Amino acid sequence: MRRYLIAGNWKMNKTIKEACELVNKLVAELKDIKEIDIAIFPPFTALSETYKIIKETNISLGAQNMWYEPKGAYTGETSPAFIVDVGCKYVIVGHSERRKYFQEKDELINRKVKSAIEWNLIPIVCVGETLEQREKGETNKVIEYEINELDGIDFSKIVLAYEPIWAIGTGKTATPETAEETHKFIRDLIQKKYSPEIASNLCILYGGSAKPDNIEALIRKPDIDGALVGGASLEANSFIEMIKKARSV
Ligand code: 13P
Repeated sequence: MRRYLIAGNWKMNKTIKEACELVNKLVAELKDIKEIDIAIFPPFTALSETYKIIKETNISLGAQNMWYEPKGAYTGETSPAFIVDVGCKYVIVGHSERRKYFQEKDELINRKVKSAIEWNLIPIVCVGETLEQREKGETNKVIEYEINELDGIDFSKIVLAYEPIWAIGTGKTATPETAEETHKFIRDLIQKKYSPEIASNLCILYGGSAKPDNIEALIRKPDIDGALVGGASLEANSFIEMIKKARSV
């Protein structure tokens, strides 16, 4: 049985103090929620302090990125070993902002996903099309390509996030119907490539201007298992409202 997951990707926001303030509010309001999974992805600098607050709670911690080697001469990078050490359960891999601003390609993403699994982290692997690709009718082709590039990966150990790039940070959410179409396409593809069991157990999140107003309609769709939330996760009230709404669906 799949469980809903609501995950807050804070991106490059919040000092340690701000992060702790937000997490304290989340813990106070969300501590009794057992029906759905909750995760937050603060910036690296705030992982250690936020973990101290959520350690014994129902809120899990994740990192926004990682390198694939456990240690060595990789100036500025963060090892999966460090991410595990600081208390993370999840790691986001292949976010479109990493693909765009840091030139991350599918081959690198594949290595990172494999390494995360080796370290018993749950990678949340992002896929999604640009506006141009959508307008040309290439959405399914792009998604299929990105999923095929995740070659040799055990799909029972990952979470997928469908994040249409045109919906990220733009306020333009995919309608629940549009999102569901792609989520269903992904699940059918996984069923064909792997097995009905892997497909039906795979958690597929939607990301792209998910907010309190649209979360319920999105996750009521049969193939949408939660959300990877950017902007609306930076403010305690909106993230709390999303989780409470998701719990009641
Ligand atoms: P927004 O919710 O701000 O559109 O960001 C989505 C996202 O990129 C989550 O990873």
